[in-house]
Formats: sequence, C-alpha cells, structure tokens
Amino acid sequence: MKHHTLLMPLDMHLHLRDGIMLENIALLSAYSFSGALVMPNLVPPVRSKEELLAYKARISQAVGMEAADEDEFEEIGEFSDNGGFEPYMTLFYQNYDKVFLAEIAEEITAIKLYPAGITTNSEGGVKNFDLNEMRPTLEAMAELNIPLCVHGETDGFVMDREAEFMNIYDALATNFPKLKIIMEHITTKAAVEMLDKHPNLFATITVHHLLMTLDDVAGGMLKPHLFCKPIAKRPQDRDALLQIALNAHPKVMFGSDSAPHPRDKKESCGCAAGIFTAPIALQLLCELFDKHGKLENLQAFVSDNAQSIYSLCPEFKEVILAKRPFKVPEDYKGVVPMYAGETIGWAIEDVN
Ligand code: DOR
Ligand code: ZN
Repeated sequence: MKHHTLLMPLDMHLHLRDGIMLENIALLSAYSFSGALVMPNLVPPVRSKEELLAYKARISQAVGMEAADEDEFEEIGEFSDNGGFEPYMTLFYQNYDKVFLAEIAEEITAIKLYPAGITTNSEGGVKNFDLNEMRPTLEAMAELNIPLCVHGETDGFVMDREAEFMNIYDALATNFPKLKIIMEHITTKAAVEMLDKHPNLFATITVHHLLMTLDDVAGGMLKPHLFCKPIAKRPQDRDALLQIALNAHPKVMFGSDSAPHPRDKKESCGCAAGIFTAPIALQLLCELFDKHGKLENLQAFVSDNAQSIYSLCPEFKEVILAKRPFKVPEDYKGVVPMYAGETIGWAIEDVN
C-alpha cells in the first residue's frame, strides 16, 4: 500500500468556534495538525487581550489530550499520543492604538480583517477602506511585525466580489510595503495573478476551492454543505489555484477555512456559509496531490511555506497517510463534513 508522511501539518485558517461546538470539533484538528491559525469571528469578536487569552485557554482545554474520548477517533485513525496542538491566535481587525498592539503582539500571530457584514459574524468589520484612518494601525502592525489576514471580498455581485477586491489589496500592499498581507482563502485567477505583484502579499487556499467549482454547489441539486464564502468560482479559477498549490508556490499556504455549523443551520432555508473539512483535509490533499503526481510538494503547501511566512516553529508531529478507501462519516457530533458518506482515496494511518 502506498504511504505518505507529512511533518507538522499546519492549518493557517481555521474556525474553532466556542462553547459546545469548540468542545466537539477542536480535537479533530488537534489530532492531525501541529497548529492552526484560529479565526476571531466569535460573537462578540475577539478584540481585547482579556477575550483573546480567555479564548485561547478555552481552546487549550478543549484540545487537552487527556480529555479525549478515544472512541471519537476510531473513524479517523487509531488514537495515539500524537503530540500537541498550537492555537495561533488572531485578533479581529479594528483600528487599534500602538500601545495596545505592542502589548498584545506577543500573544497573537496575526490580525484578521473582515469587511463589515461580508460573512458569518463580521458585522463589526471595516465599513469603508479609508487608508488614512487605518494608517496608524497598519503602520504599527508593520513595525511590530504583525501580519494582516484579509477576507478579500467587496459587497458587489457574488461571483465578482473577490476580483473587485484586488484594488484594495493593491492599495494596501503599495501603501504599507512593510506589512505582511495574507489574502485569505483565494478563489480566483485574479487573486493568483495579484500574488506576485507585491513582495508583501501572500495567500491561503482551502482544499474545497481546489476541488470544486460553482457547478458542484449549485449546478444540480443545491448542496448546502458545499456553500461557503467566498463561493466557489469557475473552472479556470479553480485551475489557477491548483497550479500554484500543486507547485507549492512559496507565497501560498494551506488554510482549510473549515467552518462548522450545526446541521440545522446548514439544512435550512437560510443556509449558513461554511464547509466543514477539518477531519478530512489532509486525506483530501493527499488524494489530490497524488492524482496530479505532485505528492512531493504537499509538505511545503501544508507546513513549510507557512513556517517561513509566519516564522513558526511547530511542535513535532508526524502524520502517516495511506492510499486506501476511507468512508467519510455522515457527521461529527451533528456537524456534517464535506463528502459526508462518500468514500475518498486516502486515510490517516497513524499520528506520532
Ligand atoms: O464560508 C465561510 N464561513 N466563510 C467565512 O468567511 C466565514 C466562515 C464562518 O465563520 O462560518
Ligand atoms: Zn474563514
């Protein structure tokens, strides 16, 4: 049987939620990832040092391996002593003063900017991109070496929102050349083309945007569990993403944007945006990279590039995957994953 080993996989864009959802799903990421960049779009969002440290403590408690219920892991592989999991914390963007940023810099890995109202729990985001108003915050971030992660969508026509946002990326990258800017979950050829225009622009890509187009979401019967923001785009967009991911472009990292919602919030007349991929992301990536004969580049895409871009030193973890059929569970404690009930080509064999 063909095997592939990944070292210290990192998920550089993850929604861990809070409360019972956090308790139910955090271990699924902690099982196979060394760490993850944790999104701050809670209700209310994470905006103060107290909120941030308290949230980090709740995450650490939720992933405390001693609290693990081993039965939960039967379906995803044998549970073993598989090392730690680092939650790399983020703050929700608003204009912050430099004193505050200097004080919190040690505790955070990035600040996440959402345009107001563009996606789940983003109402408190940025209303208009007035760079002069934002300048003190962004300059302080650049000086303190705090990267800016951006949900790059305008409020235009849904298929054009990301492409329309390229002007804002351009302005941000030009005006703040020392600021590291990460274009989160890119979905378009336009974003791929933007990546190399500025040395301070980077990007994350999800596994679902590498696998699907809008046809998979809405071309036949509507698939609520494949509905997310940004929405999946055209085949030529997906192919542009594949090209840079499979070749592990050094400015690109894996970020799942795994975004769990309870089943009733997805299978509803107002379906929440978000695809739950955390427990199957590495398996799907192995299958995809193997299919394209690019398995040797997966390590850079799922860990090495992120380590260099963010200067991270994750704890040792080794994930051994095998090329064998794996039936994706129908749900994980009421949260339906991508490809629920379907059989995929790779499985996690062991984690050390
Ligand atoms: O589909 C999405 N779900 N996109 C986002 O940007 C947010 C996320 C969520 O928090 O549910
Ligand atoms: Zn997200």
